[in-house]
Amino acid sequence: MRAVWLREFGGPEVLTPGEAPDPVADPGRVVVDVAFANITFVETQFRATGGGPFAGTLPMVPGNGVGGVVAAVGSGVPADLLGTQVITSTGGSGGYAERVAVDAAALFLVPAEVPLDVAVALLADGRTATMMTRAAGLRTGDRVLVEAAAGGVGSLIVQLAKAAGAMVVAAAGGARKLAVARDLGADVTVDYTDENWPKLVRDATGAVDVVFDGVGGDIGAASFDLLGPGGRMVSFGLASGTWTAITDDEATARDVTLVRPAATPDELRAYTESALAEAAAGRLQPIIGQRFPLAEAAAAHAAIQSRATIGKTLLETR
Ligand SMILES: NC(=O)c1ccc[n+]([C@@H]2O[C@H](COP(=O)([O-])OP(=O)(O)OC[C@H]3O[C@@H](n4cnc5c(N)ncnc54)[C@H](OP(=O)(O)O)[C@@H]3O)[C@@H](O)[C@H]2O)c1
Repeated sequence: MRAVWLREFGGPEVLTPGEAPDPVADPGRVVVDVAFANITFVETQFRATGGGPFAGTLPMVPGNGVGGVVAAVGSGVPADLLGTQVITSTGGSGGYAERVAVDAAALFLVPAEVPLDVAVALLADGRTATMMTRAAGLRTGDRVLVEAAAGGVGSLIVQLAKAAGAMVVAAAGGARKLAVARDLGADVTVDYTDENWPKLVRDATGAVDVVFDGVGGDIGAASFDLLGPGGRMVSFGLASGTWTAITDDEATARDVTLVRPAATPDELRAYTESALAEAAAGRLQPIIGQRFPLAEAAAAHAAIQSRATIGKTLLETR
C-alpha cells in the first residue's frame, strides 16, 4: 500500500511517500481502508524533533487519526462491521497510509448525519475542545479568551463556548483568521500579531474569566495577565514552542486556577462521542480548511507549521 514515511526527524521534507506492507486483521482487530487521515499540530512538532506524546523508532509511518471503511475483521470481531464507516485513533503511528490495522474496540461508528471527513476532523480536535470546555466549567456570561481561535481545536472551542452562553473573545493571527472566528460567533476578535492586543481585550471585557491556552509562550503569558480574580487558565498546548510559564504561586496570588485537564481512556472516548453527537445534531461544525493528497503530507506539514492553515488539515488517500 501507499504510505508516508518518516525516516529522520527534521523539516517537512523528511516526510516522503513510499510503500509499506499491507496490515492484516489479527484477532480482535480490524483493517480500515483509509479515506482521510487527520494531521494535528503536535505531529509537526514530533516530526521536527521526535519530542512529544508519540514514541516510535524510525523509520515509521506517522499519523494518529483516520477514517474510512472496515475492510477486514480478525477472529472475534463481528463480521457485520465489514463495510461500515468508522473513525479511529491508530495508537500514535501508521495513520498516513492507505490502510491501518487497529483494535476493534478503538473504532467509532460514524453517525449517519455526519460526513466521514467531518468525523475525521472531530476525532482529536473535537475530543480536545470538549474536554477543555468541560474542564473550564463554563457558566453563562463568562468572558472567554480563545487563542488560535481559527485553528483546529480553537475553532471548536469558540463554538462550544458560545453554546455554553459565554462571551467569546477570539484571538488569532491575521484578518483572515479573525473573519473565520467572527463567522463562528465570536463576540470580539483581536489580532495578537498587533502588540497592542491585550489592551484591546481589556477595553472590550475589563478582564476575562477563562483563557483557553493552546499557544503558550508570550501569548499565553499575556493572556494569563488578562484574567480577573476567580479566573481559570486552561492550558493544553504550546504551538509557540513553549508552555506558558506560570507557577502555582503566581496563579494563587492572582486568585486564578490553573486547569491542566487529564482524562482516562474511557473519558477521552466519551469526549469524541460527544463531539460526534453535537455534529450530528448540527450544533458543532469543524472547519476543514485544507486538504492534501496523501503523498503531499510534507506540504501539509509545511502549511501547518507556518501558521498558514485554518481549522483542520486532512490528507486524502483517493
Ligand atoms: N488537536 C488536538 O487534539 C490537541 C490535543 C492536545 C493538545 N493540542 C494542542 O492544542 C494546540 C492547537 O492544536 P491544533 O492541532 O488545533 O493546531 P492549530 O490551532 O490548528 O494550529 C496551531 C495554531 O497555533 C498558532 N500559533 C501561534 N504561534 C505559533 C507558532 N510559533 N508556530 C505555529 N503556530 C502558532 C497558529 O494560529 P495563529 O496564526 O492564529 O496564531 C496556528 O495556526 C497545539 O498546541 C496542540 O499541541 C491539540
